[in-house]
Amino acid sequence: MKLGDELKNVISRAASFVARRGEDAVRDARDVDICLLALCTPESLAKTRFPVAYVEFLRTCIEHVDCTVREVKTCDGSDEWTERFTTLLEVLRSGVPPIEFSTASDAALIADRYHALLRPFRFKGWTGDISLHFQLSSSFGRKARILSSTIRYGRSKQLLELGTAYGMSGLFMLEALRANGETGHLITLEGSEPQYSIASEMLKNRYHDTVTCHFGTTEETLPRIAKDVVIDFMFHDAGHSREDYIRDFNAVKNSFAPGALVLIDDIRWEDPLMSQGRALRCYEGWMEICADSKVRRAVEIDNSMGLLLLL
Ligand SMILES: C[S@@+](CC[C@H](N)C(=O)[O-])C[C@H]1O[C@@H](n2cnc3c(N)ncnc32)[C@H](O)[C@@H]1O
Repeated sequence: MKLGDELKNVISRAASFVARRGEDAVRDARDVDICLLALCTPESLAKTRFPVAYVEFLRTCIEHVDCTVREVKTCDGSDEWTERFTTLLEVLRSGVPPIEFSTASDAALIADRYHALLRPFRFKGWTGDISLHFQLSSSFGRKARILSSTIRYGRSKQLLELGTAYGMSGLFMLEALRANGETGHLITLEGSEPQYSIASEMLKNRYHDTVTCHFGTTEETLPRIAKDVVIDFMFHDAGHSREDYIRDFNAVKNSFAPGALVLIDDIRWEDPLMSQGRALRCYEGWMEICADSKVRRAVEIDNSMGLLLLL
């Protein structure tokens, strides 16, 4: 075949690939609209104070989502843990599983309630109210789905979360545990009020003994908590700086079960307002953790989250 014909073929295949992706996206959006129209009845919407935010929350839990996944540390060998990890990465790249609709609608109703909390709130040079802080700091659709998929494909049972905030990520983690059909437990740690009280009331009401909520900073409380537990999944979403990442990872390092997974949020975060001028160096901290001899594989998801498979 001549070079010109080959080039034409490549261009034509690329064009039909792009057209197919476009058609898939349109079809997916239409399917999601059909489902939302059927499932958001006037009665269910009448229970909400912010119906548009409620519907948007549901949409992000069920529409098609795929992630970019970049490997930063690989290893040879095939055992059940590495196979699980590989499957998880394939799922994240091709389509992150939706949140079950009953869970999504419960979470959307809780979010609707938090939306209405207009008590003033000040935090490290930021002033607003609970409603706005909740929206800025919490995990919704996309992150919730990455978390749930990690627990689902990692078959994680003993979960640790650093940075509970209002309990949204905790809720999705506990639902993923329940969906796996296995007994397990979540320990979650929060260093600020009123987040701790709001989250622990909601999580204890829904999940009883399956969750333990601790109040305290990771620097002071984590070494004591980590002493008596074996963890197979940790979500780090507390202090975001090189120092926080490394100190917290080291505090739990000897409590990780073989094949444990660790998800670290905001690995490229730099916020001059929250950090009051000092450099946070999150990405440096993430890279130093990746280099730890306990880390077998490490990937970056959507350029913003780091996922580790441990020895
Ligand atoms: C981004 S929010 C967590 C969001 C929550 N994981 C979610 O996805 O819904 C971070 C939380 O970590 C808490 N935090 C920050 N530094 C902390 C520390 N050193 N120890 C304990 N909690 C901390 C903050 O008070 C805040 O509520």
